[in-house]
Formats: sequence, C-alpha cells, structure tokens
Amino acid sequence: MTEAERRAALEAIAAEVRACTGCRLHEGRTRAVPGEGHPSTEVVFVGEGPGMNEDREGRPFVGRAGDLLVRLLGSIGWRREDVFITNIVKCRPPENRDPEPDEVATCAPFLRRQLEVLDPSLIVTLGRHSMGRFMPGTTISRAHGTVRPVDPSTGAGAALVLAMYHPAAALRTPAVEQASYADIGLAPGILDDARARRANAPDIEAGGATADPPEPPPHRANDQPTPEPPALDQLTLFR
Ligand code: URA
Repeated sequence: MTEAERRAALEAIAAEVRACTGCRLHEGRTRAVPGEGHPSTEVVFVGEGPGMNEDREGRPFVGRAGDLLVRLLGSIGWRREDVFITNIVKCRPPENRDPEPDEVATCAPFLRRQLEVLDPSLIVTLGRHSMGRFMPGTTISRAHGTVRPVDPSTGAGAALVLAMYHPAAALRTPAVEQASYADIGLAPGILDDARARRANAPDIEAGGATADPPEPPPHRANDQPTPEPPALDQLTLFR
C-alpha cells in the first residue's frame, strides 16, 4: 500500500468509528476517538479509551496523560505526530469506568483493521486493558518493560509488543512514572529488533517464544530536561 492508500484506508475506518452505534458507549459520547498519527509509521501506541478531554476533542491522549505521553516520547527523541496513537475502545466509558468486555469485543475489529493497514513493527501498550489484548495471561506489574511477538490475529502481522503502564497511573505514582521512562527507553532497541525479524520473515514464528528484551538503558531521572526532537531527516520511524 502507498502512503496515500494507507491514509485513505485509515480515514475510512475513522468514519465508520464516528458513525458507530455498535455498543452502549455511543450513547454518552460527544465525539468518537478513532485515533491519529502518521500513516506510514512503524510504531503504534494503544491506550485504553478516551477520557473527558479526548471525548470533547475527538483526539486521543490530549489531556494530562497525553502531555506525559509526549514527554515520554520526547525522552527518546520521538514525536507524537511520527507514531500512531489509538485506543482499545473508541468512545468514552461513562465516568472513565473500565470498558466492559462486550464493549471491548464490539470495538475490537476497528483496532484490528487499523493494525492491518498500518502493519507496524512495534506496538506499545499503555495500561492493562491494552496489554490484555496483546499479552494475555499476565499482569501489568510483571509485563511492563517486557516484549513479545504479537499474535497476527490482532491484525499486526509481524510486530513486537512492548508493555507499559498507563500514563495516568504514572501521573499518580512517581515510581510508576520512573518505570515508564525506563520502559520507553527500551522502545528504539526493540524497534531495531522488530525490523531485523521482519527482514528475516521466514524465521518468524507467529506467537512464538518470548523475545529477549535488550538491556535496559541507564535510569533516566524524572527531572532531566526533555531532549530536543531530532531533525526531520534523522527520524527513523517510517518504512
Ligand atoms: N487514556 C487513554 O487510555 N486513552 C486516551 O486517549 C486518553 C486517556
């Protein structure tokens, strides 16, 4: 697919999301939040579901959790417009409650189709609901900072997944924020590993053994300034 074809395919899915009445969440929404980002990116971040600010704007991660996500990305020289950001459910659960299993199931085809179009090398899950889709059978406290091959039935045919805590949890707990900076620090190395696996595609065993995560980077203190984003021609998040 060309970039223009991917952009058009993503916009068609987004239009369906905005018109969706498939579960009860559509009743309370101001705007659906399909997701946004670069159509040719290799990296997709998946959160849980829109909150109040996202519901108002129709865009993912625009509140305080989004500000932290931008700082986390900045700590490794990445920018939000160079990745794709979406959620497990595309409409806000009332009072920010957890999405119900039937709501998650009804919304699942949208994420699967987005991933089929994007065909990312790396998926980063934010929080336990998103982790549950890509790393079933574990807990967020064990899984954060670890990497696995993605089951192709999710729509991502040849990707690795890195689990992270949800940025909202990091905002509440300094130790979780520290862990989140360490976890995102693994992402560039895992992206390199994912590219190498794709280049060697016949060796990829879908749902195979857990990949060894690279050595964690040195701890990044919370008060370190966010580095300047790299120049455009240095960005390496695109196929
Ligand atoms: N939390 C999420 O999980 N997703 C958003 O888009 C915003 C906050």
